[in-house]
Amino acid sequence: MMPRVSGVWKSNGHRGLPNHGTTTSFLKHQRHESHIASYWHWKKPFSLLVATSMFLFLLVLCLFVLPAPSMDISENAEVGLQALLKEGLQGLPLQQASNALRAEKEEVHLERKSTEWHPKPDHFTLFNLSSATPSNPLNLTNGIRIYVYDLPTKFNDDWLVDERCSNQLFASEVAIHKILMNSPIRTFNPYDADFFFMPVYVSCKFSSKTGFPWLGHAPTLMEAAVNHVSTEMEFWNRSGGRDHVFVAAHDYGACFHSLETEAIAHGIPVFMQNSIILQTFGVEGFHPCQIAEHIQIPPYISPSKALSYVTEPPEQQRRNIFAYFRGKMEINPKNVSGLIYSRGIRTVLYKRFSRNRRFFLKRHRAENYQLEMLRSTFCLCPLGWAPWSPRIVESVTFGCVPVIIADNIALPYSHVVDWSAISLTVREHDVPKLYKILLNVAATNLTTIQKNLWKDENRRALLFTDPLVHGDATWHIFDRLSTRLERSHVMR
Ligand SMILES: *[C@@H]1O[C@H](CO)[C@@H](O)[C@H](O)[C@H]1NC(C)=O
Ligand SMILES: *[C@@H]1O[C@H](CO)[C@@H](O)[C@H](O)[C@H]1NC(C)=O
Ligand SMILES: *[C@@H]1O[C@H](CO)[C@@H](O)[C@H](O)[C@H]1NC(C)=O
Ligand SMILES: *[C@@H]1O[C@H](CO)[C@@H](O)[C@H](O)[C@H]1NC(C)=O
Ligand SMILES: *[C@@H]1O[C@H](CO)[C@@H](O)[C@H](O)[C@H]1NC(C)=O
Repeated sequence: MMPRVSGVWKSNGHRGLPNHGTTTSFLKHQRHESHIASYWHWKKPFSLLVATSMFLFLLVLCLFVLPAPSMDISENAEVGLQALLKEGLQGLPLQQASNALRAEKEEVHLERKSTEWHPKPDHFTLFNLSSATPSNPLNLTNGIRIYVYDLPTKFNDDWLVDERCSNQLFASEVAIHKILMNSPIRTFNPYDADFFFMPVYVSCKFSSKTGFPWLGHAPTLMEAAVNHVSTEMEFWNRSGGRDHVFVAAHDYGACFHSLETEAIAHGIPVFMQNSIILQTFGVEGFHPCQIAEHIQIPPYISPSKALSYVTEPPEQQRRNIFAYFRGKMEINPKNVSGLIYSRGIRTVLYKRFSRNRRFFLKRHRAENYQLEMLRSTFCLCPLGWAPWSPRIVESVTFGCVPVIIADNIALPYSHVVDWSAISLTVREHDVPKLYKILLNVAATNLTTIQKNLWKDENRRALLFTDPLVHGDATWHIFDRLSTRLERSHVMR
């Protein structure tokens, strides 16, 4: 599999990609199609000739514009597998790929300059500290104090030289650490702490060949950090790690593997099993990768970047893409140790709907996909290797109704975010009926869902805003921790 990166990206580019309200190449394309339709209806031989040649022309166009096999760097699913298999992407023309991306970026940049652009990064009300009490400065369910270990920089800061480390989909490990450091619930006195935070960045070792993080080193790095704190200080031994908090934001959390069978075979390392794990992974019911005490957190997307795209409520935005998905979509997925990527769901999606012109399905990565989500009504969030995907958060942020296709998935913060009011859940075996299902919703309760989706508290809960705001993703972590005070040594 040699991704056809060069040329395709350039020619397919996103030259026509709009800001809101501008005519789009997509629309133009649609208009072309309806022209053809009306030609057919004339049923005159001459028109038929014109139509046929136009059809051939479009066919040739399509062949050139065929999407390249995916190189979906932001795809959690692919991450460990690529490293695991050490195949496929060897010899990827990375230089060409990054050139193409850079060219695309510059184009978008120019486009933005040419129209009015009003980013609104401080969209949310800041937390009003003056109305909180000193013992509970963040107005959590209970007042808590957290001690942040000052680990040698090889466990955290050294990794930040690669800026992907603090922006990628697993970057909550960095964000939570930073936000906690500046938070009023941080204590410098470990004897006064209810919880101990272990700041270890395990997702930042990007293997140079593929550009994906290599999780293989994660348990070792975590264990080294535990050895460090348990030799230097008494608090780990005191509780056996029960009041210690880790972030494991990967596909299968602290199982540290992207393939479910492998993740289960490895399990959660014994030294972490007594602790509290902040993880994006979550399914309903029992799973070996969620046996430790855990809090399910949202996948990370850069809040400032995300909010800079957001302008007005979804029902007031022009959404000319009906159903949207961009990402890895193998046409003939391989059976890797008894597992098929996305359980074949993405393949079914592509085969069934890629020729339906109300579906915008692309198999290759685009830098500015956020603009596409802003133009979309329904954003498909099918499982990858793991059930969760950053698309779930992105959809909510961009006001595109998330269509979650991952049987048995558990969604983050379901105690405050009413997912059934802001998203659709489609069972994996119902995917062939997806178009009908979406049409039905569009004809009945779409506006209701969009209004719910746009409620401040929903979108706020899913973003790790920095500085912290009341009710954002980090606030909810603190709040959930504050309900686990029975693990704390401190008598309050
Ligand atoms: C914060 O809360 C206090 C007391 O409730 C109020 O007087 C003050 O105006 C609030 N400040 C802001 C910026 O909302
Ligand atoms: C503090 O929490 C209570 C209960 O959750 C809520 O009613 C109140 O509005 C919160 N205060 C602030 C300042 O957010
Ligand atoms: C904690 O326990 C480990 C293993 O028993 C031991 O090596 C270490 O010295 C202990 N740490 C402290 C601070 O006593
Ligand atoms: C994938 O391979 C496993 C054995 O490795 C087999 O049991 C399973 O049926 C295969 N799945 C499909 C859909 O071919
Ligand atoms: C919208 O309609 C669909 C299909 O009838 C239903 O499954 C879903 O729960 C409804 N959502 C809301 C928020 O009303």
